[in-house]
Amino acid sequence: MILVLANDRGGIVEAARKMGSCDCIIRPFRRSDLIRRISSITNKGVEQKWGELSLIQQKVLSKSLDVIHSVSDALEDGSPISDVALAEASTSLVYAVSNNDFKPVLRGLRNHDNYTYVHSVRVATLLTLLGKTIGLKQSDLTLMASCGLLHDVGKMTIAHDVLNKAGKLTPTEWLTMQGHVEASVRCLSATGGIHRVIISIAEQHHEKLDGSGYPKGLSGSAINELSRMSAIADVFSALTDVRVYKPAMKAEKALAIMSEDMARHIDQYLLASFGSLMLDIGRDEESADTDD
Ligand SMILES: [Fe+2]
Ligand SMILES: [Fe+2]
Repeated sequence: MILVLANDRGGIVEAARKMGSCDCIIRPFRRSDLIRRISSITNKGVEQKWGELSLIQQKVLSKSLDVIHSVSDALEDGSPISDVALAEASTSLVYAVSNNDFKPVLRGLRNHDNYTYVHSVRVATLLTLLGKTIGLKQSDLTLMASCGLLHDVGKMTIAHDVLNKAGKLTPTEWLTMQGHVEASVRCLSATGGIHRVIISIAEQHHEKLDGSGYPKGLSGSAINELSRMSAIADVFSALTDVRVYKPAMKAEKALAIMSEDMARHIDQYLLASFGSLMLDIGRDEESADTDD
């Protein structure tokens, strides 16, 4: 329970806590502060389990959450996205990936109900792994991790009922959903110091090789290689994410769809290079689900 108070005169907050209230918030408060407190109560059980992980794995999960919360603040009042949290989350993720110690991080996301957070960390992990596979140097891997964490920040501006709609989106809702790309670019550009590659990936990860993607309908070589990699990480993650309206798709099925139905959308050469890697990750997550 969260008590919303007009003030803390007479030590009301302390008294309320003694009475067993979970948390208190004093007016006026930021919407993002309220959401953060609700999220922390809702996800208490999941986040407490992070204590069983290594310090680096805990840091990936908690600092990435700080990044997402700082994006909510940026979207609400224009405050800058925390470069400290972003750097700490990204360097910790690169460390975990470099030491092949990242699978517990992905398992630590299970049952967390902040979808944008879960999806962003999964994409960041995949992108860092793909970057490692093609031999990117450490600093570029850190950039890949940051790209994954921030690629979809505009989704936080989309109404909950559209973002989590179980059925097919209406044409108007689909346009609203596509608007997350523009919202991401606006948010990332407004905060100073965000690397141009991060903004470019936020802008291009829904473009398709045959020109049928959005927002610009870019095709072929107009889509840079990092954005093609991001599209692969993003689609694989979206298909295998658990949503309120669907269970996770099996990794094998997701890869089959990406190589068959999406053959004209996705760079098949890159997909072939990364397929076994994604299958391995997907199978680990599936085995974690059956362990429950
Ligand atoms: Fe997206
Ligand atoms: Fe995404």
